[in-house]
Amino acid sequence: MSARRHSIKVAVVALITAICVGEVVIMFLLDRFGPFTPIVEAVMDSVLLVAIVLPVVIAAIYKPMARNLDSLIESEFLVKEDERIIREDDIEREALLDQLDHAAAKISARESQMLALLNSLALAKDHETGGHVIRTQKYLTILALRLREMGHFPKALEGGRIEILSKVAPLHDIGKMGVPDAVLKKAGALTDDERRTIEAHTLIGESILSAAEFDNFVDGGLISTAIKVAGGHHERWNGSGYPRGLLGEAIPAEARIMAVADVYDALVSRRPYKRQWTHQETVAEISSMKGILFDPLVVDAFLLEEANFLKVAAESRA
Ligand SMILES: [Fe+2]
Ligand SMILES: [Fe+2]
Repeated sequence: MSARRHSIKVAVVALITAICVGEVVIMFLLDRFGPFTPIVEAVMDSVLLVAIVLPVVIAAIYKPMARNLDSLIESEFLVKEDERIIREDDIEREALLDQLDHAAAKISARESQMLALLNSLALAKDHETGGHVIRTQKYLTILALRLREMGHFPKALEGGRIEILSKVAPLHDIGKMGVPDAVLKKAGALTDDERRTIEAHTLIGESILSAAEFDNFVDGGLISTAIKVAGGHHERWNGSGYPRGLLGEAIPAEARIMAVADVYDALVSRRPYKRQWTHQETVAEISSMKGILFDPLVVDAFLLEEANFLKVAAESRA
C-alpha cells in the first residue's frame, strides 16, 4: 500500500514539474518567435504543452498504472483460484468425515451387538453367587465415579470412559466359560492344577475378547477396555496376583478398580468354599490391604463409598 502511495506522489510531482517547465519553455519560445495573435498564441500554447507533458504522463502515470492494474488482476485471479481450491478441499474433507462417521457408527453398533451377546453369555455362566456380574458392575461404577470426583486416573476415567467401563464390567469373568464346572463349583480345597485352571480364566477372557475385537484403529474402546479388566482384575498391587504378577501402576487402572469391586462381592457373598463375610469384616479386610493387594487410591474411594456398597449388596439380597 505505501509503495503505491509513493508512486502516486512521484507521478503528481512529475506532472506538476512537467507543466511548470513546459509553460516556461512555451513562454520563452512565444516571446522569441512572437508576437502572435491571442488565438494563435493559445493554440500554440496548448499544442506545445501537450507535446511536453504527454511523454511525462505516459512514463510517470499511464505505464505504472497499467502495470499495477495487471498485477491487481493477476492477484485477484490467484485469490479466486485459491478460494476455489479451498472450497473443493472442504467438500472432500466433509465427504471423508461423513464416511468416517458412518464407519464409526457401524463399528460402534457391531461392538454393542457383540457386547450384548457376550454379556448374555457371561450372565448365563455366572458361576459365583447369583448376580455377581451385575453387582460388581454397580460397585465398579460407584468407585469409578468417586475416583473421578477425587481427580484420580484422569486418562482411564475421562469423558465417556466410565460408561464404557461400566458396560464391559460384566465381562470380567467371561473366561470362566473355558473352565470346567467340576472345578468352578468344587466345594472342597482345590489342587494346584485346579487352581491354575481357574486362574486361567483371566487369559481365556482376554483371548475371547480379543477375538471379538474388530480393529484397533477404529475401536470405540469397549472391547479394549474389556480386555484390560478381564486380564488384569486378579493382578495385585504388590505383584502377588495373576496371571502376570504385574506390580502397582503396571496394572491397568480399570483392572485395579475392578479388583476391589470383585473382592468386596466375593467376600460378602456365600460361596461353596467359604462363608459369607459381614460388610464390616469386608471393609476392614480391604482397608488393611490398602497398598498391599489394592491400589491405595481405590481403597480410599472405597472407604468413602462403603455405605453405597452395603446398599447395593442389601438390594441384591432383597
Ligand atoms: Fe475373576
Ligand atoms: Fe469376578
